[in-house]
Amino acid sequence: MAEKVEIFEVGPRDGLQNEARLIPAAEKIALVDALSRVGFRRIEVTSFVSPKWVPQMADAGAVMAGITRKPGISYAALAPNLMGFDAAVAAGADEVAIFGAASEAFSQANINASIAESLARFAPVVAAAQAIGMPVRGYVSCAIACPYAGDIAPEAVARVAAALLAMGCYEISLGDTIGAGRPQTVARMLAAVAAVVPVDRLAGHFHDTGGTALANIDAALDHGLRVFDAAVGGLGGCPYAPGAPGNVATEVVARHLAVRGYETGLDLDALDRAVAMAGGMRDGNA
Ligand code: HMG
Ligand code: MG
Repeated sequence: MAEKVEIFEVGPRDGLQNEARLIPAAEKIALVDALSRVGFRRIEVTSFVSPKWVPQMADAGAVMAGITRKPGISYAALAPNLMGFDAAVAAGADEVAIFGAASEAFSQANINASIAESLARFAPVVAAAQAIGMPVRGYVSCAIACPYAGDIAPEAVARVAAALLAMGCYEISLGDTIGAGRPQTVARMLAAVAAVVPVDRLAGHFHDTGGTALANIDAALDHGLRVFDAAVGGLGGCPYAPGAPGNVATEVVARHLAVRGYETGLDLDALDRAVAMAGGMRDGNA
């Protein structure tokens, strides 16, 4: 029997947060509903973050409340603090994700906190989630490089990943936020992280900016990772580089994994329908 690999669909969040056009909530809901028919076990729907920081996610409550829930799927949302957590719970999120960084400069730019401050802010979110039995996922951004500080030491990634695990995150997603990774640098980073976090608690989150996301996924597979984040249609990308690839595309990862003999459990026809919808949204044609 083929070995299983899970794709965690993050397009509605990590993709749409980068689209310049403010997409109506109804379109986002339709995309999530289309994704619910593909066979994902987890879909990241939105972010309960400050609308001043990310206006694209200002309709988080409406989107989370508007989707048609399919049994067996965990509908996830980012929550950077207790305010975001409370809103995520009120809107019916099944799980939340806290998002830290291995780079001080990125942490400041992204969530207005040092790494230590961010961990102190996340702890009560995890405690509140545990009190109601809600799972919390953790992200470590800039796991390879930072747009402000350049290359990031693998040990810095390992420290934050270990802290998130100790706090109670059930899984840590390692983000190559700017798609700078190469198989060798990914392997070095994973060796450091795997020394402090069991590989079955790790996920790979690759952006394809450098065109190496699939090679990086292969390197991560070699290290034993079996969960990968991806965005339908490769939604995302850099607002300052129109047309540049962003998140690795779910449909590309799904086919790559199939060719390599892994079982993702996804319905590729249903996925292609969601891809067409995502393409329309990206162009503003939905
Ligand atoms: P801050 O300005 O320091 O927050 O931002 P604050 O606590 O001082 O509050 C300031 C204002 O924000 C207040 O409103 C709060 O009510 C409001 P005001 O009184 O001025 O009207 N506020 C909120 N509103 C809604 N929801 C909330 C919330 N919290 C405060 N949860 C904060 C700190 C963390 C809130 C802000 O920096 C923020 O929202 N950052 C989010 C940035 C973000 O979403 N980035 C993208 C996701 S990370 C990512 O994409 C990487 C990843 O994909 C992995 C990878 O690729 O590597 C995960
Ligand atoms: Mg990302």
